[in-house]
Amino acid sequence: MDIRNLYTAFFSPTGTTRRTVEAIARGFVAERSVPCIEWDRTHTTHPTARQLGPDEVIVLAAPVYGGHIAPTARQRLETIRGDGTPAVLVVVYGNRAFEKALVELSELACRQGFMPVGAAACIGEHSYSTEQWPIATGRPDATDLSEAEAFGRRLARHLATAANPLEALDVRNMTQPPSGFGPMLRFIRFVLGYRRRQKRHPKIYLPQTDAARCIHCGRCAAQCPVEAIPRGNEELTDGSRCIRCCSCVKGCPVGARRFETPFSEALSRNFQRRKPNVYLLSNAE
Ligand SMILES: Cc1cc2nc3c(=O)[nH]c(=O)nc-3n(C[C@H](O)[C@H](O)[C@H](O)COP(=O)(O)O)c2cc1C
Ligand code: SF4
Ligand code: SF4
Repeated sequence: MDIRNLYTAFFSPTGTTRRTVEAIARGFVAERSVPCIEWDRTHTTHPTARQLGPDEVIVLAAPVYGGHIAPTARQRLETIRGDGTPAVLVVVYGNRAFEKALVELSELACRQGFMPVGAAACIGEHSYSTEQWPIATGRPDATDLSEAEAFGRRLARHLATAANPLEALDVRNMTQPPSGFGPMLRFIRFVLGYRRRQKRHPKIYLPQTDAARCIHCGRCAAQCPVEAIPRGNEELTDGSRCIRCCSCVKGCPVGARRFETPFSEALSRNFQRRKPNVYLLSNAE
């Protein structure tokens, strides 16, 4: 098929989804030199409606939160519509599991008039990863990015040669890389204990600012995707808005923002083994 433009649309507070999508787009454009238009909706609180045609392609991408697409990502991607437009669905997760996220992204895409033709479930450093409790630190790394680029190239060739009409991809065929029985069981036990404790003694976990370190550069407020940090008053966080994405923590130039959650240790202890990225194409050979 002829393709006029490639679009990418994503939500990516800590940048792992963005880096993965950009690598896929690089590969695609290297194979088929079409213009690539990026819609980074991380900070787009009031996204404008967009309509794509059948001779365009879009990469729709979101991070996984609690096994689902991040709700803010959903809200920011929902205003883009297609007209039988081929879509590549990408979920990025922190080495635990992507669970329902890819199916949800596919349902969202179909509702909006897109036709899923490719999908990827890729690993990104976990938002809760810390020096003490590392979880998929540094991912996507060079190997991940070159795989993503190769997928972009395969996708471009696939769209050029695939049988017409293209078959819609069933993302339920995507394999979830296994975690092993022991880690799964330990993590479930941790979650049940956490919920029990929260029921008895509810505790609100929010990022904190170390006032002695903070240089009031304003970067955290500017980077917050939901405007939960007041500019000029960066030691405050609006708990009713904060989605615990950790963009402020990872973006602080002096390490003054921290998010301490018992999930960091539990995830780090149980999901150390490197998981592979998985890719799927419709009517693939
Ligand atoms: C609130 C929240 C929930 C998360 N839930 C999951 C999860 O269920 N499974 C998983 O593997 N990673 C989970 N993660 C990790 C993110 O999916 C991962 O770090 C992703 O790379 C973040 O994308 P970004 O860099 O584009 O923000 C979660 C992160 C946050 C902030
Ligand atoms: S990014 Fe860090 S140093 Fe800058 S205002 Fe926020 S907490 Fe303070
Ligand atoms: S305040 Fe909350 S929502 Fe805003 S960047 Fe920090 S963790 Fe994310």
